[in-house]
Amino acid sequence: MTYRLLGISGALRRASTNTALVRAAGELAGDDVAFTLADIDLPLYNGDVEDEGYPPKVLAFVEAIRAADGVVISTPEYNKNLSGVLKNALDWQSRFSPGPLKGKPVAIMSATAGAAGGQLSQFSLRHCLTPFDCRVLAAPQVHVGDNGREGLFKDGRLVDEKTRGYVAGLMAALRAIS
Ligand SMILES: Cc1cc2nc3c(=O)[nH]c(=O)nc-3n(C[C@H](O)[C@H](O)[C@H](O)COP(=O)(O)O)c2cc1C
Repeated sequence: MTYRLLGISGALRRASTNTALVRAAGELAGDDVAFTLADIDLPLYNGDVEDEGYPPKVLAFVEAIRAADGVVISTPEYNKNLSGVLKNALDWQSRFSPGPLKGKPVAIMSATAGAAGGQLSQFSLRHCLTPFDCRVLAAPQVHVGDNGREGLFKDGRLVDEKTRGYVAGLMAALRAIS
């Protein structure tokens, strides 16, 4: 049976290393994986917009979560925290009942320019996921620091074999709880 993996990248730029990380997760999670990259380029949450009707992209995001067997999220670190676009997407999906993430197996990662690899943003993301009662893996932890260094990413792809091994380990753990 196909394993449906949803990747969520907290960065919108085309050359995002976080997007490359979740794409690598899709490649490394197994031959039976159908990988989808979520579009979280959503309007800012606004209760008036919600009252007028959910934007189609928000509905599509929620449906993508519901359809997934597992979710992998990678966040950049913006000023020691997760990105606003990711928090905004999490806020939108929280307006749906039953909660799309409830009980969902979730793996988290981070990639940053700083040497710490987003330890703070990843911790914030873990905290932000708490209300949704999803099953967030505690380990292994994947933090990719100094993300501009030679041999790590090339043409929007994670190429460093050691790091690919860490991502593969995280995906094996995700599949084990799915
Ligand atoms: C607004 C902003 C704030 C940032 N703050 C941090 C930070 O606190 N720690 C850090 O390691 N990198 C920080 N960075 C650098 C990001 O880690 C870097 O841009 C990273 O490549 C973003 O992820 P991406 O490659 O997926 O776009 C910041 C970048 C931006 C644009």
